[in-house]
Amino acid sequence: MGKSSLEPQIMHEIHAYIDHFIAPHIGQPIKISSSIMMATANAMSFMIHGHRKDYTDATFLLWMKQFKASFKATTKAAISKNIPFAAYFPGDLTGEKDCIYTDVHGLVPIHKIEVSNSFLLMNVDLLIELDWVKANTEALNVLIPEAMKEVEACKESLNPNHMTTYIDKFLYHAQKEQAAGRSEKIFTDGNAGMTMMHLYGAGTETTSTALRWAILYMCAYPDAQVKVQQEIDNAIETLRLSDLSPIGLPHTLENEYMIEGKKLPAGCELMINMASVLWDEKVFEEPEKFKPERYLSGDVTLKKSRTIAFGIGRRACLGESAARMELSLFFTTFMQKFRVSLPAGHVPNINGICSIVNEPVDYQVIFTERH
Ligand code: HEM
Repeated sequence: MGKSSLEPQIMHEIHAYIDHFIAPHIGQPIKISSSIMMATANAMSFMIHGHRKDYTDATFLLWMKQFKASFKATTKAAISKNIPFAAYFPGDLTGEKDCIYTDVHGLVPIHKIEVSNSFLLMNVDLLIELDWVKANTEALNVLIPEAMKEVEACKESLNPNHMTTYIDKFLYHAQKEQAAGRSEKIFTDGNAGMTMMHLYGAGTETTSTALRWAILYMCAYPDAQVKVQQEIDNAIETLRLSDLSPIGLPHTLENEYMIEGKKLPAGCELMINMASVLWDEKVFEEPEKFKPERYLSGDVTLKKSRTIAFGIGRRACLGESAARMELSLFFTTFMQKFRVSLPAGHVPNINGICSIVNEPVDYQVIFTERH
């Protein structure tokens, strides 16, 4: 994804973020959970189609809101996927209703296969009358055409001699397949829009949450903050300790597989228990503690190889290098410019709220300029 050309664009985004969201509130408590997501979404935009959105753009704001809601819904859906009868409990414990909405409107059609059940499908008509479903539907009616407009714009400006974005490369490949007379079912415009949304999904919430953890740890451990500012790298420790993506993504076995004498049948679904590696006390002494200096002594190579925050194997995170670059640029710039702290009397809460991503409880932070 054009790492070197991305760097200046991401730096531009970081400065835009500081000017817009931090500079007017220096020395005052602010919440960053929603705003920082806009900055990481814009960083994704540079990779995906090449241009950022303004922080005041109404469609962008609507998108971020809808985005968070669907992330939460998908997470809850995992409960009823694995414990199907839980969907019959009263209320919306498992988030099935949100999933029906995604089924009906087709934004994430894969969920239809994964989470629907006959009981709820029978009630679709009833569900789409609910207020929150209407609100989400209205949001999608705006957002899906917007995504398709981006695809159309990229098509018009496509220049095979200067392809810098994901959509450029997708469309170019589609053209080549069509020119070769192959009937194209994968590289369609619809899938360009859909995979665009998926990339935003994979790369926005994750990176913004990692940054929120990094800043919270800096507030919780002011001594470490001083050391970080003296250039000890804490990004890797944040990735380990925050166990950001606790079970990775589910993967299905195509073929039967034997592991340590146990047979896993084909079709079996596997998830990684990240914490079993990230918090393994045989490798990380006092694993629950924030100790960035642990990467400076002992078997550092082993420790780094066990910091598997981006998953393992062939389906590990596609965006790892982009995410690492983004995190390091955002975090280093923040630490170079500001001291971060919690408002007086606020106690840092470093227990996460675990969903698809493990996010910190929302907190207020004060940015103070360093002299
Ligand atoms: C701190 C930031 C991030 C973390 C911690 C993270 C973590 C992960 C994890 C744990 C997985 C599942 C791997 C598995 O199941 O083995 C994953 C998958 C994925 N990630 Fe990330 N990610 C981050 C940022 C990004 C970014 C910025 C992008 C896009 C540029 C991205 C794109 C993807 C994609 C496309 C997949 C699915 C890969 C596949 O199924 O083959 N991620 N990520």
